[in-house]
Amino acid sequence: MDTIKEVKRQEEYIEKVKELHQGKTLKYHILTMGCQLNENDSEKLCGMLEKMGYSKTDEFQEADLNLFNTCCVRENAEDKLFGKLGELKRVKEERGTIIAIGGCMMQEKHITDKIKESYPFVDIIFGTHTLYRFPEDLYKALMEKKKQEDILDIDGEIYEGLPIKRDSDIKASVTIMNGCNNFCTYCIVPYVRGRERSREPKAIIKEVQELAKQGYKEITLLGQNVNSYLRVEKEKGIPFEEYEGVHSFATLLKAINKIEGIERIRFVSPHPKDFTDDVIEAIASCDKVCKLIHLPLQSGNTKVLKEMNRKYTKKQYLNLVDKMKAKIPNLTLSTDIIVGFPGETEEEFEDTLDVVRKVRFEQVYMFIYSRRVGTPGDKMENQISEEIKHKRFDRLKALVESQIEENNQKYVGTIQKVLVEGTSKNNEKTLTGRTDNNKVVIFEGDKSLINQMIELKIVSEHIWYLKGSI
Ligand code: 5AD
Ligand code: SF4
Repeated sequence: MDTIKEVKRQEEYIEKVKELHQGKTLKYHILTMGCQLNENDSEKLCGMLEKMGYSKTDEFQEADLNLFNTCCVRENAEDKLFGKLGELKRVKEERGTIIAIGGCMMQEKHITDKIKESYPFVDIIFGTHTLYRFPEDLYKALMEKKKQEDILDIDGEIYEGLPIKRDSDIKASVTIMNGCNNFCTYCIVPYVRGRERSREPKAIIKEVQELAKQGYKEITLLGQNVNSYLRVEKEKGIPFEEYEGVHSFATLLKAINKIEGIERIRFVSPHPKDFTDDVIEAIASCDKVCKLIHLPLQSGNTKVLKEMNRKYTKKQYLNLVDKMKAKIPNLTLSTDIIVGFPGETEEEFEDTLDVVRKVRFEQVYMFIYSRRVGTPGDKMENQISEEIKHKRFDRLKALVESQIEENNQKYVGTIQKVLVEGTSKNNEKTLTGRTDNNKVVIFEGDKSLINQMIELKIVSEHIWYLKGSI
């Protein structure tokens, strides 16, 4: 498909919706679930909506359009969506708000069936491959007063040039690739986001250059598997154009590191199996690349890792960490861990605790294994009871928290470079920012410091933040 033509066609629908409202400003409410990729997708949906003449509200009761961007990685998101839809039924009856649901969950047939059956008042459902077509779906829902179902079960293309309304003026996310080819056995992502496809180097570089011009200081590169950027293209001979020397993830980091104005570069998530030496070298040599690397572990046991289809062993993970620490000065790590994968024994879980003790992560995102319909993990017979899963989770959490507390003490008395992000949530008089390794720092200072990189002395530590002084 000609994606440029298609984006133009959607621009025409944006104008048509705007005309339909005849200058009236309507309100929309958006609820975003899940990962940073979804947040970035929501920024695109907000960009389209604002061009169509809608403005954002935090109150779903007063919105003319209620939009959900869903996630299906774990079960709790489903409960949240259905709970909210229940609440919205009354608003729909009283005010006739348009209800639209998009994102990963809509790629699951058992979910869309449930919506059609139990929540027939929903107006639009769209999937991960049809986000760009939202203006057309909305126009048709408004004009034809008919339900729109717009879900494709293919690997969608990459659409460049969609409008975007970013959440922050300081930090920006840039999606560099869509989809995933890894098929970890617990994970639904490859089924709902399709196969890996990388954006053209030129499109990414131009986007970051534009962000730098607008004053953005920090860029986070996003993808399900960022360190295999352009790998599928090379393996399958899918043509792409090299730009500013970019032909891999390592060269992309180097090219972005040269863009004036950008001061920090982060990326999520890499896969340990694709952490090649050139990427390690690029992180070490690029001064703007933050030295906090997210390296998802999932489990510390080799047998569980094999069952999870992660393609590395406990030893290989630990060796990789050692190699990275040796080559990247001041490296810190964060990770994702799942407890209670089917068949995980007490000893196997102990291996996870062992890796956590050894690596001393800066931050650990902990998850209780959640069965996902359609994944191999869901069909495994040796599922772990909820009680055991929760007990293991609590043990891991206690270990992680004790490590974070100890770890934070090492910052007291040090000088840290902090990007000032704004005033604190609970106190207008204090400012908040983040260090290179993503620690929140709270300090007293003038608002003119917002969006500046400053040096702070850390004076005390608390489990979830540090206190600093100018
Ligand atoms: N259950 C629990 N956690 C999961 N994750 C992915 N799938 C599942 C699942 N079925 C976690 C992984 C991944 C993170 C984004 O979510 O740790 O890295
Ligand atoms: Fe899911 Fe594994 Fe792909 Fe990450 S790498 S999105 S955990 S299948």
